[in-house]
Amino acid sequence: MAGFDLNASFDVTNSPRHEAKLGNEWWRSGVIYQIYPRSFADGNGDGMGDLAGITSRLGSLAALGIDAVWLSPFYRSPQKDAGYDVSDYCDVDPLFGSLADFDAMLAEAHRLGLKVLIDLVPNHTSDQHKWFQAALAGQNRDFYHFKPGRGDAGELPPNNWLSLFGGPAWTRIQDENGEPGEWYLHLFDSSQPDLNWANPAVQSAFEEILRFWLDRGVDGFRVDQPHAMAKAEGLPDHPDVERAGAGFIEGEAAPPMWFQPEVHPIFRRWRAILESYPGDRAMCGEAYVLPLSLMALWVRPDEFNQTFNFRFLDSDWSAATLFANINESFEAFDAVGAPSTWVLNNHDVIRHASRFGGSYGRATASDGIGPKSPQPNAEAGLRKARGATMFMLGLPGASYIYQGEELGLPEHTTLADEFRQDPTFFRTSGERVGRDGCRVPLPWEAGAGDANGFNQTGEAWLPQPEIYRAYSRDQQDGVAGSTLELYKQALHLRRELRLGEGSFAWLPEFTRDEVLGYCNGEVLVIHNFGNAQVTLPAGEVLLSSLHGMQTGHNLAPDQTVWLKLRA
Ligand code: GLC
Repeated sequence: MAGFDLNASFDVTNSPRHEAKLGNEWWRSGVIYQIYPRSFADGNGDGMGDLAGITSRLGSLAALGIDAVWLSPFYRSPQKDAGYDVSDYCDVDPLFGSLADFDAMLAEAHRLGLKVLIDLVPNHTSDQHKWFQAALAGQNRDFYHFKPGRGDAGELPPNNWLSLFGGPAWTRIQDENGEPGEWYLHLFDSSQPDLNWANPAVQSAFEEILRFWLDRGVDGFRVDQPHAMAKAEGLPDHPDVERAGAGFIEGEAAPPMWFQPEVHPIFRRWRAILESYPGDRAMCGEAYVLPLSLMALWVRPDEFNQTFNFRFLDSDWSAATLFANINESFEAFDAVGAPSTWVLNNHDVIRHASRFGGSYGRATASDGIGPKSPQPNAEAGLRKARGATMFMLGLPGASYIYQGEELGLPEHTTLADEFRQDPTFFRTSGERVGRDGCRVPLPWEAGAGDANGFNQTGEAWLPQPEIYRAYSRDQQDGVAGSTLELYKQALHLRRELRLGEGSFAWLPEFTRDEVLGYCNGEVLVIHNFGNAQVTLPAGEVLLSSLHGMQTGHNLAPDQTVWLKLRA
């Protein structure tokens, strides 16, 4: 093979081989599409996406070839953190419609053969939740973490914990006389007080919430920040806040707010509740727990069905990193019999079509791209993103897709400050622009109103950048070579060839800095990381991220091919 240098290849002798698991539950192999309700489709024209909008557009998702949708929160909420600040877990916010609209959406999804996961936010409530309001009034304070401050007059926070959104993790309240009183804990915004999961009343309240939605027919939950729920007793100081900030340092002991072992019995009870319902209900944890050997503890057979693979999401998309991260993934998840998931985008990270067009660091650690940031190279970014997704979709396990990536949508990188909504922006005085750039309403029909068919009125809670018009779905639907058609083709082929349930082994002659390849059953998936063409083995081109690539062609830089070896 041209340019093949045995000395420079990665050592695959100890790499895991993953065996095919045919005929398993849908969540082991399915493709789950994340709907961000605020920005998917707006049925009533008020500028905010809603459930009726989702229902009306579900057909296009079924046509895309996905298996399930996950809806980010649509519950009653003051929307201080885009709905991740819930004030009533068992009702729909009027912004998004009503419970009847939810039922209609669910029925339509099921009619189309799509499963529906909803977002459960158990670590914190909104400060407007009746539990917190009662706590402020002095009742059941032990639903939350209230503590007296340190210092002579209690003027210092109870410990040194920081908020993930910037600033301290504590806010002081006033007592009934209007005097400064106790402090309450919030690992996120001050409008998101952390619940006290050591309190059995909190635990049983959430079990009721699970049943409420399972009774309505949901297929499961995506669980927000589960690794934050249990706190070490007494809420001791973070031992290394200088180095770890609000987070933790991988490989070192977990600080008192992250992945405490007390969470596991809670998830075991949840899993038992899910399994007491008919059908394959599932829960996916947003467990930011690394290394993956630790994350795997969360997907033991009686806990979460799956977790997001943040290691993969954080990959810098080099062959060496991916080689290591994919090995780590199969090793960790196969050891507990759980599927690995694969994910490149969500509503918290820079869209990969922009992320791969510049140097923005780890996906989950980036601060967004603003008008003053170095701007991404749109063309290179999209080319790499298409190649990356085709590489991902050939892997066995479950895959996640975030709305708009099937259009190749870039981040909105020039959003003016006046439109910003993310609490990160406000808590850091604009230093971190935050996540609004990946949350902009979707363009459906080019030129249909100012928001390109997001609704009929052109209103939009975040304005689209000019360039979104060209990415509109109707401009790509049925157009050979478009990103939308590429995703459709890949998803249909993945289903037909049962790649999600398939096997995995590296192709030793394609594991070096310039090229990485694996086989899944009879399909070879190869990505070119280098600058030169890669000569391929003789085989039929089933799919290529480069439009027009034919059987017998070489593989161009940044491109992925799915090949079927000639018999
Ligand atoms: C999760 C959500 C994110 C939210 C945070 C706090 O990371 O994905 O959007 O801000 O939790 O709920």
